[in-house]
Amino acid sequence: MGVSLKVLVVGSGGREHALVWKIAQSPEVEALIVAPGSAAMNSLAECRPHVGANDLDAIVELARVEKIDLVVIGPEDPLAAGLSDRLRAEGILVFGPSAAAAQLEGSKSFAKAFMARHGIPTAGYRAFSDLSEAIEYVRERGGRSVVKADGLAAGKGVAMCETPAEAESALREMMAEGRFGDAGHSVVIEEWLMGEEASYYAISDGERFVTLAAAQDHKRALDGDRGENTGGMGAYSPAPVVDQDVEQRVLERVVRPAIAGMAADGHPYVGVLFVGLMIDDSGDPYVIEFNVRFGDPETQPLMVRMDGDFLPILKSAAEGHLDPDAKLGWGEAAVCVVMASEGYPRSYPKGKEIRGLSEAEADENVVVFHAGTQPGAQGKGFETSGGRVLGVTARGETVQSARDRAYAAVDSIEFSGSQVRRDIGARALIPR
Ligand code: AMP
Ligand code: GLY
Repeated sequence: MGVSLKVLVVGSGGREHALVWKIAQSPEVEALIVAPGSAAMNSLAECRPHVGANDLDAIVELARVEKIDLVVIGPEDPLAAGLSDRLRAEGILVFGPSAAAAQLEGSKSFAKAFMARHGIPTAGYRAFSDLSEAIEYVRERGGRSVVKADGLAAGKGVAMCETPAEAESALREMMAEGRFGDAGHSVVIEEWLMGEEASYYAISDGERFVTLAAAQDHKRALDGDRGENTGGMGAYSPAPVVDQDVEQRVLERVVRPAIAGMAADGHPYVGVLFVGLMIDDSGDPYVIEFNVRFGDPETQPLMVRMDGDFLPILKSAAEGHLDPDAKLGWGEAAVCVVMASEGYPRSYPKGKEIRGLSEAEADENVVVFHAGTQPGAQGKGFETSGGRVLGVTARGETVQSARDRAYAAVDSIEFSGSQVRRDIGARALIPR
């Protein structure tokens, strides 16, 4: 007899829509609940719109009442707040790290000290909690530097500073003016790394790991990596900069020592380890950051590219007996183009009617994941409700064909003021 599992996914964004879409295809799923989920997920799962992702009590209660077999946690905030620990204390299986292990993302100084202790390559750094000492350091050091708020700042707590004067004003904003609240009271100051960025994903049960794939995100708002930093305007997988040789280096120098190091330090890492990397000209990887959850929007192309059943991997990682030889199959390529609201990442209007979704999804290689939508007027269709609205994702035999399909789908979708980058995946097409 097959397994039949009741699965709860926590979160409501495009990343969670992609996870829910993938998990819903598993023959092992008996019931799939999402807290809070979104209207767009209603066709795949039972959503609990009143159970917020950060309402730990309500989630634990829901998991208990529904006799959930496995909880998959999407966002970092509930992880940092200890949701996994709370659920495990109730005897519920969880895919997601403990609060202690989530410090890899939640505290830059924790992550930097961890990497130093375990010999994992990363930018040189110093940590400060005193403003005048930090200022003295950037003045003495001279040149370029990267100033980062120590705590969680929704990806926005990083200042790339060309001069000591720029670094000084970033330090004042973070440490004295409270721009990122408590997250910025202490900072790390890093050396500025050069190279090509990529992210890499591995799933761990605390001891063993299974690799997923590399992807590349596009963080800036405008074509050509110009404009402000956003949560991500698109992503694609694979990332050609991570060829076999580079991947081997990433596994040996980063993923393996990170998983072993967390176990050795008494915080075994259970969940997905998202490694943000800078790959230098010689193909050597340096860690920019660790995240303790799936990337958004990278998960959208990863789920669309992945063949086979993901649920057994998530479950066996949560149980602590992952088969390290379990191989996931991968399609050749996938590309996700984000359609955002006018004005994003600053303020933006809501409630704009979205047209053309079914035309876009008429291509069987296209899936439209919703990041910020709500039911339209009179409950018909969808309208915009967020900064990032849709992640239009397509699979292809090459990045080029996936990209062509994604943009054809984007062109059939319409809402007033929609903002799209036209160069998602373009870097993968430049001969290296
Ligand atoms: P993070 O929030 O740490 O991912 O940083 C956001 C972005 O800032 C990264 O995607 C990089 O583009 C850039 N960045 C962060 N740290 C460094 C560094 N030490 N050197 C160069 N670029 C960096
Ligand atoms: N796309 C980057 C992130 O999820 O942090």
